[in-house]
Amino acid sequence: MSAWAGLARRDSALTELMDDPDCDPRALAATYRRFGVVNRVVSAWGRVYRTHVRAELRALGRPARILDLGCGGGDVTARLARLAERDGFDVSWVGADPDPRALQAARERERPGLRFVAEGSAALIAAGETFDLVVSNHVLHHLDADALASFADDSLTLSRGPVLHADIARGRAAYALYGIGVAPLAPGTFLRTDGLRSIRRSYRPAELAAALGTPWRVRVPAPFRVLAVARGRADA
Ligand SMILES: C[S@@+](CC[C@H](N)C(=O)[O-])C[C@H]1O[C@@H](n2cnc3c(N)ncnc32)[C@H](O)[C@@H]1O
Repeated sequence: MSAWAGLARRDSALTELMDDPDCDPRALAATYRRFGVVNRVVSAWGRVYRTHVRAELRALGRPARILDLGCGGGDVTARLARLAERDGFDVSWVGADPDPRALQAARERERPGLRFVAEGSAALIAAGETFDLVVSNHVLHHLDADALASFADDSLTLSRGPVLHADIARGRAAYALYGIGVAPLAPGTFLRTDGLRSIRRSYRPAELAAALGTPWRVRVPAPFRVLAVARGRADA
């Protein structure tokens, strides 16, 4: 069956080139660097910041601590940090990812108020860490059913406030537009192959709601996007 016809169903058996521990390190580093542009265009975090994060920071009325779980190369963490700083909020941002290759790329973005740790969600919980808000971008579609359940549950344990998991919504328009739009950025990277595979692995909103279950609500914050939202239980 063609990839196009296969978009009717989630292709969870596909693996991404960057998930191979033996993949070309130069192409991987170039991919992490260019995620900055790709995520800016496709991920709608500007909108999610305005609709979900800003109001939460305002309501807190004190310095906040925010976790980007599975931060990869850290570009989304850095972008959110800039948006909050521009609004005058005092936020300590932590990007966490157990993949040392991702952390190496992310650490180039470190600055005061923004740091990256080579840890997964379970290690953060074991260390007793809690945050006012937990976010993630493009992690959910990577995970198998068991890892999705524990990642989602861990994120609730880590947050005293909202948890926001943003991802791609699978669909033919997203697939066609990404395939065309990524062409100028793709040479020397995994962006084209992995981006298209990511779309084929991704959920439609109702599928994600069914996969996550209670207490998650799945929203559509922008075209071709899903946002899973719940309240954390770190204070409970
Ligand atoms: C495709 S990457 C997304 C990177 C980045 N958020 C972005 O948008 O470019 C998914 C990342 O999730 C990380 N990850 C998977 N399970 C995790 C967990 N339980 N805790 C923290 N990170 C996790 C992986 O190591 C991987 O780097």
